[in-house]
Formats: sequence, C-alpha cells, structure tokens
Amino acid sequence: MSVHRPEIKRITTHILLEMKGRGEKISALTAYDYSMAKIVDAAGVDIILVGDSASNVMAGHETTLPITLDQMIYHAGAVVRAVKRAFVVVDLPFGSYQGNSSEALRSAIRIMKESGAHAVKLEGGVEIKESVVRILSAGVPVMGHLGLTPQSIYKFGTYTVRAKDDEEANQLVADAHLLEACGCFGIVLEKIPAALTEKVSAELRIPTIGIGAGGGADGQILVLHDLIGLTKDFKPRFLRRYADLHQIMLDAIHHYVEDVKSRDFPNEKEGY
Ligand code: KIV
Repeated sequence: MSVHRPEIKRITTHILLEMKGRGEKISALTAYDYSMAKIVDAAGVDIILVGDSASNVMAGHETTLPITLDQMIYHAGAVVRAVKRAFVVVDLPFGSYQGNSSEALRSAIRIMKESGAHAVKLEGGVEIKESVVRILSAGVPVMGHLGLTPQSIYKFGTYTVRAKDDEEANQLVADAHLLEACGCFGIVLEKIPAALTEKVSAELRIPTIGIGAGGGADGQILVLHDLIGLTKDFKPRFLRRYADLHQIMLDAIHHYVEDVKSRDFPNEKEGY
C-alpha cells in the first residue's frame, strides 16, 4: 500500500509577499543548530532566523557584537541542513557590513555560499543603504531591521522601546520606505510603539515582522530559547512563554544524577 505524503512547499520571498497580500500572518522564530531547527521547521514556522542573538543565547556574551562571520556561517549551515520548508534568513554580524559595501557584499556571499541560507538580514536604514543595494544587486534577498537594533546598543545605551518621539518615528517610517524601494523583501520591527508598527505595515507592500512591536505587524518573531523557557531570567513584557523547558530539563537531569548515584541506571536491559 502506498502512503500519500503531500509535498512540502518551500517558503520563498514570493510566498511571504502573498501571505501579506491575503492577510495571513507570518510566523518566524530563531534557531541556531540542527536539532532545534528540525523541530522548528516541523512545527510549521515560516521564517527561521539564524539571529546574531546566538552571541547571547549560544555563547553567553552580553551583547550581539562579539559573534563573528565564521561563527554565523557555522550556525547557519547547521540550521540549513535541518530545514525542509522554512525560509532561512541569517544575520550579517556586527562589523561585517557597516560602512563598506564591498565588504558587505563579500560577507553576504560567504553566508549564501558556505551555509546555503536563503537571505541575509542587516540592521539599520539610510546609513546602510549602499550595502543593502550592493547585496541585492548580487541577487541575495535582504531583510531590513529597524527600531531597536541590538548591534547599536552602545549608541542607544539601553534596550528600551525606540521611536517614541516624532523625530525618531518619522525617520523610521522614511527608512522603512527606503528599504522597500531598495528591494528588501521584508523588515523586522523591534520594540517600537504598536501604533507605529500599524502605520508602517499599512504603508508598505512588503511584510513587517514584529518583536515587541504589537499585533499590527504582518508577522511575529521571537527568540526560540525565550519562547520555550530556556532563558528563564529574561522576562520582557512582549515575551509569551509557551513552555518551561528550563524546569523540565532540570527535573530530568536531577533524576538522571539520582539514578546514577543510586546505581539504578543502567539496569540489565540497558547494557549489552
Ligand atoms: O538576532 C535576533 O535574534 C534578532 C531577532 C530578535 C529579530 O534579530
């Protein structure tokens, strides 16, 4: 008897645009390794971002600044090998694209060639326009990132909500239009007022993906480790935790330690 398995249709930039067109919200999550990416993909997430938040979550750095291009390529390759359906976007890390469009292009090409990812993401607006245009001219899809841009944390000095005043909000709207005009396929809006997200999302043809930016974005993204409760001390207001894996893992590992100490593990059936 043959089993019918429907073909998995790979998400593309075109499909993401169509989703926005028909009002279907886009789901996005981060992943940094093969095992997690396999689960995220199987759960039906549309975009997997290999975020430079790997610098915090995987390597324990305080900021996203230390992670290198080589390290991002390592994480991205592992994710790409796991994913069958989702569109895989990779962050260009700090120092690999700002202020030098030739270097930006080289960095983007290395990510695409060496990891097999589908697109790159860059933080910033008009100040990185040249880099965005140069990367797009090589046929590499680019996602923008406006609002709170963690690679500029030492300029802001804080991770609080951005674009609350008119000047910064107007600049963000102008940057969003500029990125769309350049040819970006989507824009992450991080930690900005919900009303501003609604305005930008209504004005743009390309999808916006929000994090801490309210329900008006065309899609939502979270850091996977926050959503599943592995980063137990990180509790921003925008975060909804869907599981407490920290506690589940702690209980399981305690149990294992007890079983080893008490000689319960391994038993006869668990040996050869
Ligand atoms: O690096 C990251 O995880 C991100 C998301 C928070 C959007 O850029």
